[in-house]
Amino acid sequence: MKINPDKTFTHHRISSLKLLMDTGLNSTDISRYDEQFLRTTLQKRFQEIQCANTDDYLEVIKHNTEEVSFFLKSLQIGYSEFFRNSLTFAVLEKIILPSLIQKKKVSKRKEIRIWSAACSVGQESYSLAMVMEELKNGDAEKFSYRIFATDQNEALVNEARKGNYSEKALNNLSLKRVNQWFTKRGDSYTVKQELKNNIDFSVFDLFSGQFSCPPASIFGDFDIVVCANLLFYYKDEFRQAILEKTGNCMANGGYLVSGETERQILTDHNYAEAFPQSAIFRKK
Ligand SMILES: C[S@@+](CC[C@H](N)C(=O)[O-])C[C@H]1O[C@@H](n2cnc3c(N)ncnc32)[C@H](O)[C@@H]1O
Repeated sequence: MKINPDKTFTHHRISSLKLLMDTGLNSTDISRYDEQFLRTTLQKRFQEIQCANTDDYLEVIKHNTEEVSFFLKSLQIGYSEFFRNSLTFAVLEKIILPSLIQKKKVSKRKEIRIWSAACSVGQESYSLAMVMEELKNGDAEKFSYRIFATDQNEALVNEARKGNYSEKALNNLSLKRVNQWFTKRGDSYTVKQELKNNIDFSVFDLFSGQFSCPPASIFGDFDIVVCANLLFYYKDEFRQAILEKTGNCMANGGYLVSGETERQILTDHNYAEAFPQSAIFRKK
């Protein structure tokens, strides 16, 4: 079947879709999502189930609750990688963190506090912990750090806590890191406990009206907040709400890390690059 590119996709249709999604089936508010992102996700789904346009698809989901759940799930992409955005990780490892560690040694509050704000199944948080442990082991004067790793999706957080990965998921890691930080069991690689010790995984929705910072962290005050590869999902006003929340939890002079494809969003929202071309920012 030839697919209609659906040029008529409008606010009205998004609202209709929202009404259907809200008919007691699910409380996901799809009106928060960026329209281009919704359109791309819908069109992908049209093709998979051979619908010609939005109206046809609306008809399908009116009668098919499984399709509603499937569509909502496809909006919540949990894809992640170890050391995703390699330039950004290199700058953190070689420049930002060593300088932060030096500052901490002469300050009253010695602990380095990091928030991985959309941790998915944990690769980002474990990558940060590997870097921190390696810097710690190479430093005669030890320092302490804590990583608070949160996501709105409880199932993903539970997976992250377990820290089990396939061999393919370890593609970005050197053999040295795989040997040092994982135990192989059958086909699966499990993160060693010593890497888990400084990470606190919990469920937290960045749109939470109840808490200004993840309750597990008690008072926020993060030196680094990683809020990567989720801003692009949302409309501008919701990106703004997320950036306000993360910004309010940051320590003075703290850094905000986004995805490398989201750099423009940060510069549009009053953040300035801390290092050229990386996705590491500071509040203007
Ligand atoms: C594509 S993954 C990114 C994972 C990781 N940060 C990375 O860059 O590889 C996006 C994650 O954002 C989470 N997410 C989306 N909206 C969220 C919200 N409002 N609060 C907390 N997490 C959210 C999703 O559950 C998903 O795990």
